[in-house]
Formats: sequence, structure tokens, C-alpha cells
Amino acid sequence: MSSPVEVRMIVNGTPRAGRCEPRKLLIDFLREELGLTGTHAGCEHGVCGACTILVDGVAARSCLMFAVQADGATLTTVEGLADGDELHPLQQAFHRHHALQCGFCTPGMLIAALDFLATNPEPSEAEIRDALSAVLCRCTGYQNIVKAVADAAEKMRAAGGAS
Ligand code: FES
Ligand code: FES
Repeated sequence: MSSPVEVRMIVNGTPRAGRCEPRKLLIDFLREELGLTGTHAGCEHGVCGACTILVDGVAARSCLMFAVQADGATLTTVEGLADGDELHPLQQAFHRHHALQCGFCTPGMLIAALDFLATNPEPSEAEIRDALSAVLCRCTGYQNIVKAVADAAEKMRAAGGAS
């Protein structure tokens, strides 16, 4: 077993640090060392997208990275979306459109949508479907998820851009 190493990162705007084995996965570090259990572990081999977070502003699968690879990085997890008690427009739209059932895929869906809307703020339905095809919903609630993302995009445009 290797000696634990120090890992430091900015998570949801706050400097965080912890010690872990060099081979500890980033998702396990977030959940077990930092207590951020909003990011879900599904397949744990890069297929389902449930573990999606932003790493330096870009969507990444936290089950495919070691925590040490994120040393010095800036991360956004689902816990970082709301502004205090104010839910992010994407979260509000998921609520309005009943875009979740068991909720297991939801953190990954929200972060993938956030990443997508940052580069395509006025997407077509087909583009939303294509972008979210990387995240699997085992409850198969895709219809309302697509509606929610389209609605959130509209609200975010009206508010003056992605936030
Ligand atoms: S848990 Fe990472 S892609 Fe499924
Ligand atoms: S809401 Fe259950 S997996 Fe998507």
C-alpha cells in the first residue's frame, strides 16, 4: 500500500484538502474524504455519467480520475449549483418539470447540462438529447429531463447568460 498523499483543490468555491492513497478515485475522495455525497457513483467505469462534475470548468467523470490528478484544480459538484437557498435555474426547471424519479442520475444530468449550456445557450431539442446521451437515466425519464433543460436554457438566457 502506498503512503497517503496530500490533495488540495477548490471545490464549489472553497479551498479543500485531504489525504488519500495515490490510487483513490476522485469520486471516492469527494464522497468519503470531503463528505460531498451529492455526486453519485453508478457504474464506476465511465459509462453512466452519474459521477459527472466540472473540473476546471469542463465536465469530467470523477470515477475515471484519481484524486491526485485533481490536485490544484477547481471543481464544481452538484452541491455548488445553488446560491444559498436559491436553487440554480437548472435545478428549478428539474423541479418544475418533474425531471427526476429516483434521482440517482440527477447530479450527473445537472452538471452535464450546465456544461452543455455554457457552450450552447440556445440549443435545439435534438442538441439537448445528444448532449445528455452521455448520462444514463435508469428510470428512463428522459422526456421531462429534456423539457427541463430547454426551459432552464430559456430562463438563463432571459437572466443574461449561464450562471
Ligand atoms: S460512475 Fe462514473 S461514469 Fe458511471
Ligand atoms: S431519475 Fe432515476 S436514474 Fe434517472
